[in-house]
Amino acid sequence: MQSFFSSSLSRSSLQNPSLRPPLLLMATKTLTTIPANPEEDLDDRLCSDPTQPDQEERVSGGGGGGGGGGDLGREGHVERAWAHWRKLGSPKMIVAPMVDNSELPFRMLCRKYGAAAAYTPMLHSRIFSENAKYRSQEFTTCKEDRPLFVQFCANDPDVLLEAAKMVENHCDYVDINLGCPQRIARRGNYGAFLMDNLLLIKSLVEKLAVNLNVPVSCKIRIFPNIQDTITYARMLEEAGCSLLAVHGRTRDEKDGKKFRADWNAIKAVKDAVKIPVLANGNIRHISDVYSCLEETGVEGVLSAETLLENPAVFAGFRTPEWVGDNEHSINKEGGLNQADLVVEYLKLCEKYPVPWRMIRSHVHKMLGDWFKLHPTVREDLNRQSKLTFEFLHDIVKRLRDLGARIPLYVDYTQAAALANGNDQS
Ligand SMILES: Cc1cc2nc3c(=O)[nH]c(=O)nc-3n(C[C@H](O)[C@H](O)[C@H](O)COP(=O)(O)O)c2cc1C
Repeated sequence: MQSFFSSSLSRSSLQNPSLRPPLLLMATKTLTTIPANPEEDLDDRLCSDPTQPDQEERVSGGGGGGGGGGDLGREGHVERAWAHWRKLGSPKMIVAPMVDNSELPFRMLCRKYGAAAAYTPMLHSRIFSENAKYRSQEFTTCKEDRPLFVQFCANDPDVLLEAAKMVENHCDYVDINLGCPQRIARRGNYGAFLMDNLLLIKSLVEKLAVNLNVPVSCKIRIFPNIQDTITYARMLEEAGCSLLAVHGRTRDEKDGKKFRADWNAIKAVKDAVKIPVLANGNIRHISDVYSCLEETGVEGVLSAETLLENPAVFAGFRTPEWVGDNEHSINKEGGLNQADLVVEYLKLCEKYPVPWRMIRSHVHKMLGDWFKLHPTVREDLNRQSKLTFEFLHDIVKRLRDLGARIPLYVDYTQAAALANGNDQS
C-alpha cells in the first residue's frame, strides 16, 4: 500500500510567507501493484507521503557524505562559478534528477558506467526541513557519491534555505527545481509554475547564493519565446545561480517522446550567460551526447529516460533500437546487457538500501524489453506485493532461462576514440 499527498500554497500566501498555511493533505491513493508503465503515475509519485510507511518496507538506512564548497558572494560570482565547476572535474555526462529514480544505488550504477556527476531526485524543501523520516528515506549518499547535486522544489526562500543547510556539507550544488510541469507542481506552486512569478524565483536563488557555502544551481524549462528564455536565464545568473541546466522543452511540452527538445534555445542560453550551462533533452545514445555538446556549446548534458532503460549509456552502450540497419559493422555486442545491469543494481541496493518502490521501478524500466518477450514474468513481478532480493534475482534468472537475450551494443569507432582520450567535445 502506498499513500500519496501534496502540499498546496495559495498565491497570496506566497507573496507573504507569514501567511503560509500548514501543509494540506490533499489526495490519497492506494496501489496494490506498480503498473506496467510506472511513468503513468509520475504525477502522484512526484511527492510521496513521508508520513506513510512504504507497503514494501524500506530495507534500512544509508551512509553519510562529507565535504563542502567555497564562499559564494556576489563579487566575482562568475569566476567562482567556473572555479567550482573545474574543481569538480568539469563533468560532461550527468544523471538528471528523477523522483524515485535517481536515488543512491542508481546513481552509483550510472557513475560506474560513465556518469561524471548526478542529481538526487527532487526533494520537497518544506517536508525535508520538517520531517526526519522523509530526510532519512529520501536522501541518502556516501563518500563516493560525488559530485552530487541535491535538488529541492520550493516556493519560500526561508524554508528552502533551512532544507538546503541540512545538505550543504554533503553535496556540490544545491539545485532548485524550476522545471517540473506536472499537475502536482501546479497544485503545490513549484517547479515550472514558478515561471509565472520570476520575482519569487529570484528571491529563492538569492537566498541560497548569499547564505550557503556551496553554489546554487537551477534546472529550468524554456519559454515559448527565446528572448523570454534569455531574459530568464540572465536573471538567474544575476541572482547568484552558478550552474544552469536547461531542459529544452516548454512547460506545456510535457511528453518527452512527443516533443523534441530545442537545442537551439539551449545554445541561445549558453551564448547569453557567463556561468556554466548544461543541456537536457534528446539524449538517446552516446552520439547524441557528442552532437549536443557540439551543437549547443554547453559544458555537459543530462540524461533521464534513456538512463533508466540503459544506465550504461554514458559508457557508450546502446540498446538495439539505436543501432541503425547499416551500422552493424561498427556496432558490436558490448558484452553487457540490461539483465547484467539489474543484477549489479540489486547488489548496490543491498549495499545502499532504498525503498522497494524505487527498486521495483528500476527493474521494470531496465527489463522492459525483456518483459515484452516474456510478459508472464512481468505479471509475476506485478503480482508480488512484497519484494525480496531473492525474488528479483529469480526474475532475472527466469528471463535468462527462458532464453531472453537482448545485448547492448558499442560503436567501436567511438570506443576507440574514447580510449585514446579524445572525448569528442
Ligand atoms: C521518472 C522521472 C522522474 C523525474 N523527476 C524529476 C525531478 O525530480 N526533478 C526534475 O527536475 N526533473 C525530473 N524529471 C525530468 C528529467 O530530469 C528530465 O528533465 C526530462 O526527463 C528530460 O530529459 P530526458 O529527455 O533525458 O528524459 C523526471 C523525469 C523522469 C522520467
